[in-house]
Amino acid sequence: MNIHTTEDSVRILGKTFSLLIAPGRIQSRIEEMAMEISNDFLKKNPLFICVMNGAFLFTADLLRHIHPRSGLDFIRVSSYNGTEREKTIRTIWGLTEKISGRNIIILEDIIDSGNTISYLCEELEKEKPLSVCVASLLLKDIPRESAVKIAYTGFKIPDVFVAGYGMDYHGEGRNLQGIYKLINSNNPC
Ligand code: IMP
Ligand code: MG
Repeated sequence: MNIHTTEDSVRILGKTFSLLIAPGRIQSRIEEMAMEISNDFLKKNPLFICVMNGAFLFTADLLRHIHPRSGLDFIRVSSYNGTEREKTIRTIWGLTEKISGRNIIILEDIIDSGNTISYLCEELEKEKPLSVCVASLLLKDIPRESAVKIAYTGFKIPDVFVAGYGMDYHGEGRNLQGIYKLINSNNPC
């Protein structure tokens, strides 16, 4: 087995990660975000777009608490290789829903450099939506070139590499209920 968990730390592929955000805090913050989004999008029939793979748990938990009529679609982009940033962002799967005339809410697990979200917003704007906004569970507290405004943020975190609650370390750790930060590393991202 590659993942060993204690309350405060996990080992994934030989690296130690320590607890940053406990499961209970994640769930209560997501409920608050859902309440805010629901109030802002009453009668606007928003289309949620889950950015796979990292945002799958965030999307599932958030949508359980969204009450206005809404739709859901998925997109998959790739910008990471382990903990190292890749420069090129590639769309792997496209959307199936019509974007034109819809109020779009992009659901992200984490905003780091902001390159992925800038790319996605630019691509979606080409389809002439009524509006586009972003809800991200995590936002790394770093200066970034990208000017995209994040309308809904779960937690601001320091510039560390995290895994758990949908986010992976070399393909593992997505199933962890809490969010853990990598320690003992020269490459914290
Ligand atoms: P960005 O383009 O640099 O903002 O990174 C965007 C994507 O990279 C996020 O949506 C995540 O899927 C992934 N990512 C960024 N930081 C981390 C991290 O600390 N752990 C796991 N994945 C990350
Ligand atoms: Mg992501």
